[in-house]
Amino acid sequence: MSRTISFKILNFGSAEHAASIALRHDILRKPLSLSFLKEELDTEHDQIHLAAFEEGRLTGIMLLKKLSNSIIKMRQVAVDEKMQGTGTGTKMVEQAENYARDNGFSTIELHARNTAVPFYLRLGYLKEGAEFEEVGIPHSLMLKHLLTNSFAVLAVKKYCL
Ligand SMILES: CC(C)(COP(=O)(O)OP(=O)(O)OC[C@H]1O[C@@H](n2cnc3c(N)ncnc32)[C@H](O)[C@@H]1OP(=O)(O)O)[C@@H](O)C(=O)NCCC(=O)NCCS
Repeated sequence: MSRTISFKILNFGSAEHAASIALRHDILRKPLSLSFLKEELDTEHDQIHLAAFEEGRLTGIMLLKKLSNSIIKMRQVAVDEKMQGTGTGTKMVEQAENYARDNGFSTIELHARNTAVPFYLRLGYLKEGAEFEEVGIPHSLMLKHLLTNSFAVLAVKKYCL
């Protein structure tokens, strides 16, 4: 039977937002014996909280933070442990890229945990510069330059001619 994954931008302060913080805690912070500070979470009020749902259950979350008119940062990417490796993360990244394109951004950047670098490489993200430490573990800067809708149309036209 085919699965249906739906996506939604969560309202800051909603019950679903609270559930997404719990998921982020379980997947991203608890394994490192860390917790979120309220002050840290409060700074996220103007970021996009993009969530994945399956059969009404929250299965994935990521945040998108505007860095400039052209660059948006993908952060806090987490998939429910039971659903990891089943395609949720890939679909969530695709949704984020669509959101970025639709809103005029040309580049997505992220700080990838080294354990997740192969996942992003597979999706066309490239590593930049030297590794660095965040939340006590090694990370790498990764970037993807998006083909904007107008370039995509040109590319299709060129290919079709
Ligand atoms: C990393 C993460 C977001 C990927 O989401 P996911 O739903 O598990 O990924 P998908 O099922 O879409 O995986 C797509 C591919 O990437 C691979 N992959 C996923 N996570 C990987 C990892 N950590 N290392 C190597 N490959 C990985 C999968 O095996 C799959 O490859 P395949 O189709 O050839 O089998 C998720 O596993 C996760 O939440 N991990 C823990 C938290 C984390 O590391 N977050 C990222 C912080 S930068």
